[in-house]
Amino acid sequence: FRTAAVIPAAGRGVRLGPGAPKALRALNGTPMLVHAVRAMAASRSVALVVVVAPPDGATEVKNLFAEHALPDRTDFLVVPGGESRQESVKLGLEALPPGFDVVLVHDAARPLVPVDTVDAVIEAVRDGAPAVVPALPLADTVKQVEPRTDGSPEPVVATPERSRLRAVQTPQGFDHATLVRAHESVTENVTDDASMIEQLGLPVVVVPGHEEAFKVTRPLDLVLAEAVLARRRA
Ligand code: C5P
Repeated sequence: FRTAAVIPAAGRGVRLGPGAPKALRALNGTPMLVHAVRAMAASRSVALVVVVAPPDGATEVKNLFAEHALPDRTDFLVVPGGESRQESVKLGLEALPPGFDVVLVHDAARPLVPVDTVDAVIEAVRDGAPAVVPALPLADTVKQVEPRTDGSPEPVVATPERSRLRAVQTPQGFDHATLVRAHESVTENVTDDASMIEQLGLPVVVVPGHEEAFKVTRPLDLVLAEAVLARRRA
């Protein structure tokens, strides 16, 4: 089995507040994207990391990795991204050289995922699952609402049973050919790669996620991420 990781990193990070594209913002002095690439390269199974850069930032990203070395066993490519996360992932897949049968898709915005989680995802794909997602039970109860755009209170429509819900993280792992097929046939916009496999009618399985694989989305997440890094160094 040969495994490649595609890292969509072309988002603007609007919810994080004004500044550089999210992936290029620093956590304890090192850009988030560098942490995310290292997290994939930490797995001995990952032979190639493809970073999907902001369309106008591919050169900047290439220069970044001239400064931040990766393990010798890991190849590295940078390609420009697209308008949506889904399009960015597709562009990353199209850049893969032949010979990879397992593909991970990992958000640059999850810089601290531990290597054990990465390896567990890869192993489950090798064991035969077409798609694998790391996931955690929820602390909050989730309500489905009828969204309102006029600012009036949103009515609750349903309350799914919390014990059956999972919050999914990345890296998500795929049989390469299956993920390529999903990108050819699913055209509506999705926020989760595995849901495209569900739409093909194929099974998606869950492995345990990790609390340090949280997504850096809002300003408070930066504080938490820097605290996790400081604790790792202590
Ligand atoms: O917006 P969201 O939080 O879902 O973004 C998840 C990941 O997708 C981030 O790493 C972001 O950089 C990436 N992305 C992308 N291309 C886009 C939008 C988001 O690569 N057009």
